[in-house]
Amino acid sequence: MLLKSPVVFHPPQETCINRQPRRAHIESCQISLTLPRLQPVNGFRMNTEELKGRVAVVTGGANGIGRATALLLAQNGAKVVVGDYRLRSENDDAFRSLGIEQRQVDVRREAELQTLIDFGASFSGRIDILVNNAGIGMVKQIGDVSEADWDACIDTNLKAAFFGSKHAIRWMQADGRGGCIVNIASNAGILPRAHDPVYSISKQAVIGLTKSLGLCHSKDKIRINAICPGPVGETGMMNDDLDKQPDRAAAIKQFIEASPIARAYGRMIHPSEVAEAVLYFVKDSAVMVTGTFLTIDGGKSLGVPPKP
Ligand SMILES: NC(=O)c1ccc[n+]([C@@H]2O[C@H](COP(=O)([O-])OP(=O)(O)OC[C@H]3O[C@@H](n4cnc5c(N)ncnc54)[C@H](O)[C@@H]3O)[C@@H](O)[C@H]2O)c1
Repeated sequence: MLLKSPVVFHPPQETCINRQPRRAHIESCQISLTLPRLQPVNGFRMNTEELKGRVAVVTGGANGIGRATALLLAQNGAKVVVGDYRLRSENDDAFRSLGIEQRQVDVRREAELQTLIDFGASFSGRIDILVNNAGIGMVKQIGDVSEADWDACIDTNLKAAFFGSKHAIRWMQADGRGGCIVNIASNAGILPRAHDPVYSISKQAVIGLTKSLGLCHSKDKIRINAICPGPVGETGMMNDDLDKQPDRAAAIKQFIEASPIARAYGRMIHPSEVAEAVLYFVKDSAVMVTGTFLTIDGGKSLGVPPKP
């Protein structure tokens, strides 16, 4: 399949507050539902229909990175099904206006994942895109980690990505047309962190899963890639973390200073900037890209940033 028209985007605006809604019908929704305005430059026409006719399932799509991804894929023409164990009524208007379906699922249960993915396939007889995004943090040292903690983190972050892939691959193989799976891993998947060993292990394994399944299913034209975000603001995961800090403002500053680009711009990564990477992976222009990962971390994983 050929790329229809190359598009070059202006970078997102500096702050989330200044971001303009991309579509008028999202204007009435709260600011966290908006995406940066992407404008075509150099005379190229922006193609917002490239994913038309494709079905995408996004796990954990009710909030944060998953929500931004669901909105962006739908804005680019995909029929999107969001699965999340905590559906949020504040998404209803924006999701409805883009035709996004919502289903309550616990991704730790294979049977529920299968039901979600089969529901997605009911729209066109196939699944084109799966985004394994649902995830939870686990800030505990080994001595404090119970078996239940381990199961909660590994089952949500890793087992769900495996069994979600299993059921999506079944549909992608069925007609020989293939598909795309994008796993939301983490910076912790390439740079393990001392404060959250179980989370770091889960995300390193997600990168292993990406490479292994990417290798197994290239023959089926199924591409499997991962994204490794650094600290992303306006997410439940980040807010949970910040809520535990004695000085929230100081903690935000620390997150920003850990990434050289974030420090240069004086802000955290926005969920929509991770969503743009998902969009890249699932577009036909990335047809030769599989088994790899892309860091969206403001350079955090490059090393210790220079002193200010
Ligand atoms: N926020 C960050 O800084 C950051 C950095 C790197 C990676 N990530 C990864 O990004 C992904 C998305 O997280 P986020 O930051 O947007 O956080 P978030 O909390 O805003 O979103 C996670 C979503 O997953 C859902 N979820 C959690 N457990 C579930 C389960 N068992 N079944 C169904 N849904 C479930 C939650 O309800 C929530 O809507 C996660 O995999 C996370 O590990 C986040």
